[in-house]
Amino acid sequence: MKLVKLIGNLGYGSRKEVALMFREGRITDPDGEVLYADDQVPHEHIRIDDEPLDPPMGLVLVMNKPLGATCSRKDQGRVVYDLLPPRYRRRDPALSTVGRLDRDTSGLLLFTDDGTLLHRIISPRAKVAKVYEATLANDLRGDEAALFASGTMMLESETDPLEPASLEVLEPRRARLTLTEGRYHQVRRMFAAVDNHVETLTRISVGQLGLGDLAPGAWRALEPHEIAQIFE
Ligand code: URA
Repeated sequence: MKLVKLIGNLGYGSRKEVALMFREGRITDPDGEVLYADDQVPHEHIRIDDEPLDPPMGLVLVMNKPLGATCSRKDQGRVVYDLLPPRYRRRDPALSTVGRLDRDTSGLLLFTDDGTLLHRIISPRAKVAKVYEATLANDLRGDEAALFASGTMMLESETDPLEPASLEVLEPRRARLTLTEGRYHQVRRMFAAVDNHVETLTRISVGQLGLGDLAPGAWRALEPHEIAQIFE
């Protein structure tokens, strides 16, 4: 692919804007030699204003989603895409969240531009474990773990029972719930069905991938071995 198209697809600018960046000599190799729009150069050898180029297609990001941001692209309020460089919204193929977390849910959120990978992660058939920690308004009753694990639990207005989910009680009002699917407001609706109410909710891992020391609002690109951890 020609450099001008590659850089345009990464969201740095329109074809015209990227062509201007070439003319201004802002696009170079690691030694500072100016590159030209028709050059064919390995991705890792391209610098813009001395900075390495964003990762190519096949990008996977992990973010510690803060409370108050939504996963929608067009919501009026703060959206998770606002926490990324603006050019990430202009990438082609587009970068999307892998499933969604509610505005009032924090924690591990993945993004990718790889549609096949996205479906592999969210498909209930893949059984990727998504682990949530919830604090609750009421003490747990004691029968929740058996119901959640039954594979027969029905949520209101749904026609298929939930996949078995595992509940670990951490404190009378704090629990860890592991799901292998992602239905609308699933954790909140599961606890509502057992006369409880989720007060805080955070996702702590997806597969074997955790948040590490990512602060709320921070994000980074995943290495291939970390993408593999999602499926371990
Ligand atoms: N379940 C919920 O209820 N909310 C989320 O954000 C994720 C899972």
